[in-house]
Amino acid sequence: MSARHFLSLMDCTSQELNSLIRRGTELKDLRNRGMRYEPLKSRVLGMIFEKASTRTRLSFEAGMIQLGGQAIFLSPRDTQLGRGEPISDSAIVMSRMLDAVMIRTFAHSTLTEFAAHSRVPVINGLSDDLHPCQLLADMQTFLEHRGSIQGKTVAWIGDGNNMCNTYIEAAIQFDFQLRVACPEGYEPNPAFLAQAGDRVKVVRDPREAVAGAHLVSTDVWTSMGQEEETAKRLALFAPYQVNKALLDLAAEDVIFMHCLPAHRGEEISVDLLDDPRSVAWDQAENRLHAQKALLELLVEHAHHA
Ligand code: CP
Ligand code: NVA
Repeated sequence: MSARHFLSLMDCTSQELNSLIRRGTELKDLRNRGMRYEPLKSRVLGMIFEKASTRTRLSFEAGMIQLGGQAIFLSPRDTQLGRGEPISDSAIVMSRMLDAVMIRTFAHSTLTEFAAHSRVPVINGLSDDLHPCQLLADMQTFLEHRGSIQGKTVAWIGDGNNMCNTYIEAAIQFDFQLRVACPEGYEPNPAFLAQAGDRVKVVRDPREAVAGAHLVSTDVWTSMGQEEETAKRLALFAPYQVNKALLDLAAEDVIFMHCLPAHRGEEISVDLLDDPRSVAWDQAENRLHAQKALLELLVEHAHHA
């Protein structure tokens, strides 16, 4: 199958990723100027959600409509996927009707298996391992607020989860230093760490990670699918809360990001999203613009191929 997929940031070159985030800003400007731009007329995106979502669903659905196409929400509850139809068979059938498929799932292998049988581009809308679309938005947001992230220092505080793994890939692709502060036993996936070499450093003390950092980012302590661990995690992660005092240790021009949804009072202090250093709302909005750039690249490209 020759379609081009986006399952990880490593599916693009670093040059392509930088063009994508610049294009995200251009598409944002077009929209802010009220210009219509509909290169994906009559194109249809299928969106399979095995987990909950607000931003990802809205940004893909609104993005497709703004680009002139449409999006269809598919939940396992209402499709045969939930009744055991194999991923491979579903991929063959769906990709004969759709122009691209976005999947939010648990096991990353669901994405790779679907992609292996799909005629059309498959996009990772979050798996247990990675959330690459979120990093497109994060990198676009950094660029808009502070310019190039190349050579800067980023601190990831908290769980070594899917977002953290994706920050490791971003460190490689966008060429920045990453310091991860996490409790013992909650480190990011060793395979991702090995790929990054000395670009990524894992420490225990959040203050050490944040010292002099240009970007500080965190995420929930309990990801989707880990709900039964909530109480244990709340206790273990308590020293990893990002608050104003912690941010004060970072570079003077630091910005703070959170992919959202946030649990105020847990991984961030209740006031942090209102701090002038937080760019979380711009970051959330940029999901729309960055993914429109991605859809333009994958779906338009497939159309002309
Ligand atoms: N950040 C993010 O992916 O949000 P949703 O879970 O609401 O899609
Ligand atoms: N790590 C979180 C991100 C949510 C956007 C999760 O997987 O639930």
